Amino acid sequence: MIYADYNGTSRLKKSVKEYLIQRLDGPFGNPNAIHSIGNQIKAAYEECRKICATLLDADPHQVIFTSGSSEGISQVFYSHIALNKCNKRLLLSKIEHSAINNVSKTLEKMGFEVDYLNTNSDGVVEIPNYNKSYCIAALMAANNETGVIQNYNEFAIWCKENDTPYFCDTTQYIGKMPFSFKKSELDFAILSSHKIGSLVGSGILLVKDPERLKPIIFGGGQEYALRGGTQNYIGVECMTLALKELVENMDQVHALKENKLNFEKRIKEQISEAVIIGEGAERLPNTTLLSIPGIHGQGLQIELESRDIFVTTSSACSDNEPETSHVLKSMGIDDSVGRSVVRISLEESATNEDFEKIEDAILKSYQVLKKIKSY
Ligand SMILES: Cc1ncc(COP(=O)(O)O)c(C=O)c1O
Repeated sequence: MIYADYNGTSRLKKSVKEYLIQRLDGPFGNPNAIHSIGNQIKAAYEECRKICATLLDADPHQVIFTSGSSEGISQVFYSHIALNKCNKRLLLSKIEHSAINNVSKTLEKMGFEVDYLNTNSDGVVEIPNYNKSYCIAALMAANNETGVIQNYNEFAIWCKENDTPYFCDTTQYIGKMPFSFKKSELDFAILSSHKIGSLVGSGILLVKDPERLKPIIFGGGQEYALRGGTQNYIGVECMTLALKELVENMDQVHALKENKLNFEKRIKEQISEAVIIGEGAERLPNTTLLSIPGIHGQGLQIELESRDIFVTTSSACSDNEPETSHVLKSMGIDDSVGRSVVRISLEESATNEDFEKIEDAILKSYQVLKKIKSY
């Protein structure tokens, strides 16, 4: 079996699984309690904050533990607006995840205007060539469907010059590429534990200036009164372990990238009509968005599954929509290519043998499906 839907959610890392199994023997205790067990757990939790801050090159007080990326997005979009009484203008790229698009739709209903940044045909978002100030701007660091890496450092400069706070969705980027919160000069960034080999239900919101943030979950004033609720301490311990392992072994992405590029080359040599979406841009080392026009993406996905290879047609949220995604539409990709995509996204430890197995399964599936090419 090859699990090739890492961008959807990752499998638990072996080290995290082993840690979790022994951790379930305890200790358990409320980190806010004043007894010694509570103190011990709180100390370990705060140590995790320090470790995560170091790994992400942030200060510990800039690390707010959350339940995941969607929460971080919602908190920033609401609290920033509530606190700063800013102008009613948002600037978004056309390739943002639905977790941002849906908050923005809600804000539109509240009277906000949204300007959009265009995307080129390789999936790279264009930095605006005008000056205008916004309440907040969002351009993700890497896209979850195409894996295309964005010019977020350059956009951070534009945002600064235009007095616009920058929210960068780093969910897919952190753990796959080297990242420094301080150097990139972002105002907000996020991490989701289940995308980096740990448990679903924890995450990080990085905030340059926590004074600008307001809580959306009040609870008992935890997380510097910015995110209430009893801390998910086991989730945070596991997430810290996964992040540490990824950051400390960042070198392994070079081999992954090389194996992936060779795999793509072989597919294109053997299936002349195959298209690699975003091929001309820098992409995440683990992601290939492949289209074989005429063969429906879902058909290929089912054929691959029958060969024990698990891919998706684009992102998990839009898997049931046999339509060209908003991301691909923004790149000017038409339905003949857009409806045929499958996303292959592997974990960092994937080997060349894994790519060869996927290649073999794609070629066999292609032989079956080309007989019923539908468009
Ligand atoms: C780019 C991106 N942003 C945000 C999210 C939402 O993350 P979470 O599942 O942690 O809420 C995802 C998950 O699919 C994602 O890929």
